[in-house]
Amino acid sequence: MLKLPKFLWLVILVLLAALGFLTNKFIIAGNTIPSKDDRTAILVTSDERIMILGEMRGFLEAIQGIVEATAEGDLETVAKLATQTGAVKPDMSPSLIGKLPIEFKTLGFATHDLFTELGKTAQGGDPVAVQKELGDLMLNCTACHAGNKFVVEGSPEAMQGN
Ligand code: HEC
Repeated sequence: MLKLPKFLWLVILVLLAALGFLTNKFIIAGNTIPSKDDRTAILVTSDERIMILGEMRGFLEAIQGIVEATAEGDLETVAKLATQTGAVKPDMSPSLIGKLPIEFKTLGFATHDLFTELGKTAQGGDPVAVQKELGDLMLNCTACHAGNKFVVEGSPEAMQGN
């Protein structure tokens, strides 16, 4: 055991506890409250909500284009749409990243990667493989929606529960 004065051990312990608290708050737990519909309500600012929902609509539009192009046998367009969507880098400030729970971040980043993968599959030219992979990718959409919602910080919903 290292020979340090007692107060130094105390300082180290306090710092470790603070580090643990901050890691939990900003990396793992995020800024959340429970919600009446059994989902996790993530508290964000109105602008952050607008930005993320805009990205979500981009996901849906990409999927619409992918389904239509697959039905038309146009896998080149599928590859283009999927690759573009995979490459979108949402404008996430460190503060917003800190508010999102770890599962949310993991699922979100994984969804972008799956679009990139789908782009490669489409280049392979097999429409059935594209459909199968799109179905699997959309499990990320449904899983995340089943467990999460956004509530604006300081709004009546955030105060009274929602
Ligand atoms: C990491 C979590 C997560 C993933 C993955 C995810 N979403 Fe969302 N999405 C959300 C949350 C949270 C909301 C807001 C729901 C709420 O507040 O009730 C949302 C909202 C939406 C909306 C509504 C947008 C609006 O303007 O109101 C659409 C459309 C949507 N998502 C599409 C998708 C599609 C398509 C996918 C898959 C390609 C997807 N999302 C993947 C979390 C996610």
